[in-house]
Amino acid sequence: MAEPILVAKDLVKHYPIKGGILRTTTGQVKAVDGVSFELLKGETLGIVGESGCGKSTLGRLLMRLEEPTSGTLDFDGIDMYAQKGAAMRKLRRDIQIVFQDPYTSLNPRKTVGDIVGEPFDIHPDVVPKSGRRKAVQDLLDLVGLNPEHINRYPHQFSGGQRQRIGIARGIALNPKVLICDEPVSALDVSVQAQVVNLMEKLQTELGLSYIFIAHDLSVVRHISDRVGVMYLGKMVELGTEDEIYERTTHPYTQALMSAVPVPDPTLRGKREQIVLQGDVPSPANPPAGCRFHTRCWKMQEICKTEVPEFIDRPDGFQGHRSACHFPEVLVATGAEVDSDLPGGTSSGDGATRASEGQGGLGGLLHKVADKVGLGDDADDPNRQSARTFKPRTGDSDSVADARAAADNANRQQGW
Ligand SMILES: Nc1ncnc2c1ncn2[C@@H]1O[C@H](COP(=O)(O)OP(=O)(O)O)[C@@H](O)[C@H]1O
Ligand code: SF4
Ligand SMILES: [Mg+2]
Repeated sequence: MAEPILVAKDLVKHYPIKGGILRTTTGQVKAVDGVSFELLKGETLGIVGESGCGKSTLGRLLMRLEEPTSGTLDFDGIDMYAQKGAAMRKLRRDIQIVFQDPYTSLNPRKTVGDIVGEPFDIHPDVVPKSGRRKAVQDLLDLVGLNPEHINRYPHQFSGGQRQRIGIARGIALNPKVLICDEPVSALDVSVQAQVVNLMEKLQTELGLSYIFIAHDLSVVRHISDRVGVMYLGKMVELGTEDEIYERTTHPYTQALMSAVPVPDPTLRGKREQIVLQGDVPSPANPPAGCRFHTRCWKMQEICKTEVPEFIDRPDGFQGHRSACHFPEVLVATGAEVDSDLPGGTSSGDGATRASEGQGGLGGLLHKVADKVGLGDDADDPNRQSARTFKPRTGDSDSVADARAAADNANRQQGW
């Protein structure tokens, strides 16, 4: 088994809430509230959860872009939060980040060469000034972009290409760990597939370890070796891809899983969806006991007062970590499930009857990529317009209009 490269123990990040004329602290937003896990060398650990559950805050803590309220983080055996000055600067080279939005995370006034080469300005010892242009061009080539486009500006690229630029910048310093915060969430599905495939290729070639943050379970399944599920600042379940997708034990994961679209039409309607009641509570005032108890259909008295431990729970095989007082396996692979298996209450035994073919969008990603034969130029801006990242209406005319308008804009910009 691979060794861990990152070990997070009880990471906590609370943001003070200021109020009144004197701006005194009136409360705390408990964005991350006691998260522990390890990232193994060469693996991809997916982190999923609804918006606002603390994924990005966790990502920033792992890079030490923010100081934790408490907790420890070991990077390759080094206590990261204890490092100062030059030692910390050196560590920063080893952990890099790729952000979600390829439209706002790239400075529109800088050329691609400047953007990708920026890390060399911060760490000038990595590549001598004379070798920078070549180094940047090599990086562009590595991520499937034309090295001759080094003097172009971000607006001259499509969404997928911009994310490639973000990735090139992320790997410029040859890091060991790449934190990817929703790197494909803003992209069209077919372009998502290409970027995910690129990331897998780079992982193999460069020996990277990834933290892959997303709110979409299907995308995470496609790329992850293990997956951690977050709810309101806590990790509620952690396991291998199989453990999470095929024998999840936590009711929250089960609810998320039941909402993943089923690509196989013959299986549609065979799976009951667990519809969660109520909204996610505020992280400024999280429920006592199990944080999920206000929405959980299996809630009992103990759930209101006692925080369930995040420990290995039986899942029919070796068991995996889950923070639930009443863990029960939900099988989700299309296998017939024994109806005697203990199930949910208010949703009937639907929770145990899930049957899903090939992992939702994850399967689709493969299929789309295979079918369309997506090459590196498939996200050429002339085909994948810069506007396709916006939610589509499903109206093919309006999509065509948007493309035509973007093509026009591209032409005006010299494409
Ligand atoms: N700098 C900050 N100051 C105050 N609250 C913050 C800050 N950053 C994030 N939060 C809050 O912390 C919670 C978690 O946010 P975030 O980590 O961005 O979640 P996610 O990435 O899962 O959507 C949210 O309630 C958010 O409003
Ligand atoms: S501990 Fe209780 S409330 Fe929390 S997920 Fe388990 S059954 Fe539901
Ligand atoms: Mg986020």
